[in-house]
Amino acid sequence: MYTTGVTSPQGVWWKPAHKSERIWFTIAFVWCLVLFAMMPLWHLRGGQNPSGIRARVDPQDYVARVRQFVADYGTGESEAGIPIVAPPPGSEVYLLAAQYQWTPILQLQQGAQYTLHLSSLDVNHGFNLYPFNVNFQVVPGYDYGLRVTPTEAGDYRIVCNEFCGIGHHLMVGRVIVEATATADAGAGGTGVADAAGGAQ
Ligand code: CUA
Repeated sequence: MYTTGVTSPQGVWWKPAHKSERIWFTIAFVWCLVLFAMMPLWHLRGGQNPSGIRARVDPQDYVARVRQFVADYGTGESEAGIPIVAPPPGSEVYLLAAQYQWTPILQLQQGAQYTLHLSSLDVNHGFNLYPFNVNFQVVPGYDYGLRVTPTEAGDYRIVCNEFCGIGHHLMVGRVIVEATATADAGAGGTGVADAAGGAQ
């Protein structure tokens, strides 16, 4: 008796799965079901959100918070007219993403802790602190508060890493981290920061 593609072999011609294979298959199948159940469960109970502060916010209300933040701690403007803000350590910091700009420019102190709020006025943007591996979605209607402590002094750029429109590649913000007196010999620079803080 020969077999071809159109005539089936007779009887049980395959080797039944080995016991260990059946056990492995059962474990994999059960795990599939667990992961499948996790999707709706996580959607309903997990919040699908990062740790830290999160809240819904009307984009216009968020803009108002940013304006207040600039009014409270603003120290000047960049050449492009973007406000520069030097919030005191421990304060709430508000950063707004909007096509195609990050507002304001942040001037932070090394080693100090801040709560960095991120939200968008219009569409999804991506917060990427270059050159560090810090990535965060910036979503309109949501206020995400991240507790951050700058560890290295420097002049950094915020690069938008979520395609947000025709000017996406131009959307670059700025974070300046000033060295503290203990971390750097530049006591003069710190003095300037202190003077600015005292003038508020
Ligand atoms: Cu904002 Cu890309």
